Amino acid sequence: MLVLGIETSCDETGVAIYDSEKGLLAHTLYSQVKLHSDYGGVVPELASRDHVRKILPLLDDVFAQAGVNKKQLDGIAYTAGPGLLGALMVGGSMATAFGYALDIPVLGVHHMEAHLLAPMLEDKPPEFPFVALLVSGGHTQLVSVAAIGEYELLGESLDDAAGEAFDKTAKMLDLDYPGGPVLAAMADQGEIDRFSFPRPMTDRPGLDFSFSGLKTHTRNLIEKHRGDSPLPDDLTVRDICAGFQEAVVDTLVIKCRRAMSQTGMKTLVIAGGVSANTRLRHKLKVALEKEGVEVFYARHEFCTDNGAMVAYAGCRRLLAGQRNPLIISAIPRWPLDQLDSINSVGY
Ligand code: KG4
Ligand code: ZN
Repeated sequence: MLVLGIETSCDETGVAIYDSEKGLLAHTLYSQVKLHSDYGGVVPELASRDHVRKILPLLDDVFAQAGVNKKQLDGIAYTAGPGLLGALMVGGSMATAFGYALDIPVLGVHHMEAHLLAPMLEDKPPEFPFVALLVSGGHTQLVSVAAIGEYELLGESLDDAAGEAFDKTAKMLDLDYPGGPVLAAMADQGEIDRFSFPRPMTDRPGLDFSFSGLKTHTRNLIEKHRGDSPLPDDLTVRDICAGFQEAVVDTLVIKCRRAMSQTGMKTLVIAGGVSANTRLRHKLKVALEKEGVEVFYARHEFCTDNGAMVAYAGCRRLLAGQRNPLIISAIPRWPLDQLDSINSVGY
């Protein structure tokens, strides 16, 4: 089955073509980072308009790269949510128009399910069942995954998502937008132990997270060390970044270890933008391999938003016979554990 995947939930326009026999044929991505950087965050209306501008050229590119004609497609998958309503509508209308024109099935995919399945695009994919740590700009969740669409939420952030905490802290330190990867790069040059940061909610049982306190802690450190300048010196900023990153990473590692021992599972999948963080990948591997747990993640470019994960997730469900009526579906808030199982009938 040959499937076109379209991702437009936030500030990345991603398209890809996935073949269930041959794997990923091509993918292409346009990031709106420059457009939003002056505002220090995503401006929803600008995001929607830029998706409209970029989606057709990207589609032309991906068909050319894959050496595929539109008429060869067997199905279309697009991100139906969660995300920004206007941005979702762009991918949804494009996919639905394709569906009408080509008379092929269309399916709206859950963005976090697509992230969760992204490691399946690698040479050595994880096998079900597994625990997934979903860490993106909007979500921090631990999920028990029995099969596609069979999700049990084990824990989640009560306030900021991990990526959001990275981004907000980076903004306080006046780092370039988007802050997460920039803060991580600074952290890798800093001293981890110069400043002590709390590991929030690790001293009590449970698998929920809270990251907003780390921002306050950072704000206090900035105040203490900035003297008469708006910010502390460069070296101190790097050390703050290192201490902050270590606190987020340690907190995630502690909760993952807990989730693995609670479920007795031996496979952990990490997915979403923050799973690109090298320190997180390293510390999770070291901590969990000792306990016989194997850790899986996607290649860097498929950790953040992309069309390949949407094409893959859509292909799996389309192959199972699932499809949507030809009505544009855009669901800004959509809990992952409300999805139907891939094994459910009458979808
Ligand atoms: O999954 P994603 O591309 O978009 C959402 O679905 O939210 O995740 C984006 C988030 C941003 O908060 C970004 O700062 C963060 O992932 N991120 C990182 C890194 N790369 C991306 N955070 C920490 N370290 C990184 N290397
Ligand atoms: Zn995402």
